[in-house]
Amino acid sequence: MNENALPSGELRIARLDGRRSTLVLLLTAGVPEIAYFGARLPNTVAASDLTGLGRRDAVPGALDSGESLTLLPETGTGFSAHSGIIAHRDGKTFISQLQLQSVEQGRDSLEIRLHEALTDYEVQVRILVDRESDVFEWHTSICNTGESPLTVVWLCSVSLALPPSFEYISLFDGRWAKEFQWRVQQLRTGSLRKENRLGRTSHNSFPAIVAGEDWPRWTRGAVCAMQLGWSGNHRLLIDRSRDGRPFAQMGELLHPGEMVLDPGERYMAPIAYVSHSSRGLNGLMHSQHRFVRRSLLRENWRSLQRPVHFNTWEACYFDQSEARVLDLVEQAAGLGAERFVLDDGWFRGRNDETAGLGDWQPCPVKYPRGLEPIIDAVEAADMQFGLWIEPEMANVDSDLARAHPDWLLGEPGRVQPTGRNQYVLNLADPEVYEYLLSTFGNLIERYRLRYVKWDMNRDLTHAAIDSRPGYHQTTFAAYQLLRTIADRFPNTEIEICASGGARADYGALRFGSRVWPSDVHDPTTRQPLQRSFGLFFPPEVMGAHVGSRRDEITGRTQTMAFRTASALLGHFGVEVNPANLDAGERATLERAIAFYKQHRDWIHDGDTYFLDHPEPCVIARLVVTPDRKRALLVAAQIDDCAFAVPPPLRLAGLDSALCYEILRIDPEDYSSTAEQAVHGAVLQNIGLQLPLMKPNSASLFLLHAREEGSD
Ligand code: GLA
Repeated sequence: MNENALPSGELRIARLDGRRSTLVLLLTAGVPEIAYFGARLPNTVAASDLTGLGRRDAVPGALDSGESLTLLPETGTGFSAHSGIIAHRDGKTFISQLQLQSVEQGRDSLEIRLHEALTDYEVQVRILVDRESDVFEWHTSICNTGESPLTVVWLCSVSLALPPSFEYISLFDGRWAKEFQWRVQQLRTGSLRKENRLGRTSHNSFPAIVAGEDWPRWTRGAVCAMQLGWSGNHRLLIDRSRDGRPFAQMGELLHPGEMVLDPGERYMAPIAYVSHSSRGLNGLMHSQHRFVRRSLLRENWRSLQRPVHFNTWEACYFDQSEARVLDLVEQAAGLGAERFVLDDGWFRGRNDETAGLGDWQPCPVKYPRGLEPIIDAVEAADMQFGLWIEPEMANVDSDLARAHPDWLLGEPGRVQPTGRNQYVLNLADPEVYEYLLSTFGNLIERYRLRYVKWDMNRDLTHAAIDSRPGYHQTTFAAYQLLRTIADRFPNTEIEICASGGARADYGALRFGSRVWPSDVHDPTTRQPLQRSFGLFFPPEVMGAHVGSRRDEITGRTQTMAFRTASALLGHFGVEVNPANLDAGERATLERAIAFYKQHRDWIHDGDTYFLDHPEPCVIARLVVTPDRKRALLVAAQIDDCAFAVPPPLRLAGLDSALCYEILRIDPEDYSSTAEQAVHGAVLQNIGLQLPLMKPNSASLFLLHAREEGSD
């Protein structure tokens, strides 16, 4: 760093503290440099102790000024890797050399204003810390202060200097019915870059980066996570500066000409959420769960009791009729369901995937008396009624598309590929938007909907608005629609779904109470998926359903015990035709539902721990109450073990000063058998000996801290 460039000739610092983490910025004449992001520094660390962090020798053979990992690294100041900001006026003045205008330091916030004098724009970076959860929110925006249009090519939401030892990078791949696939790579040479151009969050790329100094472990190691709260296109990037320091950057991927700001106009990059843990992934997860529970979820949807769902999709697909659905209502109530969700197939013309989307009136053939008899039956059985909707789409074969072909998003004169035989509506068109708002508002009122499953089943390819790229605008308009519906109908919960988990992200979750992570129910596929999903989302927002014996997607056959045990630690639901269950399966399911109801309140409020185990096929999840007195352990085995007897499972998260009574729960019938009480320190440090398990099965244990004074 060139100290001569400083305003006062000396480095100043700005610092933000969470409970367990600290961010330190060095303030220079330009963009503040990230000097430190990691474990909480004591308050006694003085500014003078930190200013030295900025002094580095320049790279021989490179620029004299050296290079800085600032909040927005710039080519214009000698940064050799991917710039954090690229903007120009009609192809000119593309270089940026932002100058610091002001820094406002609040107790939990930093607001940094910067100005680019020649190109004439202002950039603002606001960093907020939620002290309880230790999640740092980055809000970055750019405003055109000049007199002609300003093209923004890239404005990263966050660019974070990683500790030099953070070489292990996790990114998340996936596909339909197999989302959230965890990939670990070591940053060696070149950069790691992952882009999503599908116009929705996508199955393929959850917008997060997890970096750590070692192969990621749940129970130990220093790690940090960055996520983008955005349901559109994104770019994730990890690289090193020329002097070898790793950094990670993420933001919205903008298409050419997508973001052209008129004078005075501002572009807000998506919010980024950043956290650090010195206690492995579990520490990161706790931060993120706490943040979702305390800050991200809408206030009225925090601490909800999560009713058992019955969903009709895999129970009958499109093959619906009043009699058939009334029968399902009765069966669902008999199983103990508390919310009945009528999935796709209920509206006019919807007999398969090819037609009907857009015509949101009950199908007169399937429901000649409308949906009212179904709703009455659901409510009479003391269940809530919920409905599947897909507001943003239309089939070509629909009255809506026939009447308003111009409402479809696309460029006139071009034939675009369909996805699931459907097209996206141009939500940015006020007429379309108003139509959707009134159509779905009316549906919610008329059918007393307590819940909607808000689906979104295709990628955006031709998101052209007036022939310009409109991915950002469309995503934004979808948020606006979700927000308005959520504001107007606070008692109607919204589930975020997009062909499974293709819109699972913090941007969308601001308007939802539940997320559908994947269409697959098969626990063997679902267990690892739920684990990765669980790093970011707490159990109560994770829809988890019991599916058919022979899974509809994988074709694998699974026991009811394994199916229920795998759904227990989420928001439990049933998505199978009860008539196809044999007596044993039915009994297991009923008991699992009763077990879920008995324990859900504390599970949905508890701290989750995933447990490292020498057998990679063992996926173990422990949920423990904040006072550490009660815990539920679900240990699933999804393949053959390498060892004849699995090694003990060390139970992180318990109180090492307490002794725990252990009840083994048989997932066949949810009966319990008391085992010997074990000291928390033993369970933590030596572990719980798991029983021999078959592949594709699970063991369940309830743990209660023994009352003081008892033997
Ligand atoms: C998507 C959802 C499914 C189901 C179908 C209905 O694929 O993810 O759960 O609702 O749509 O068409």
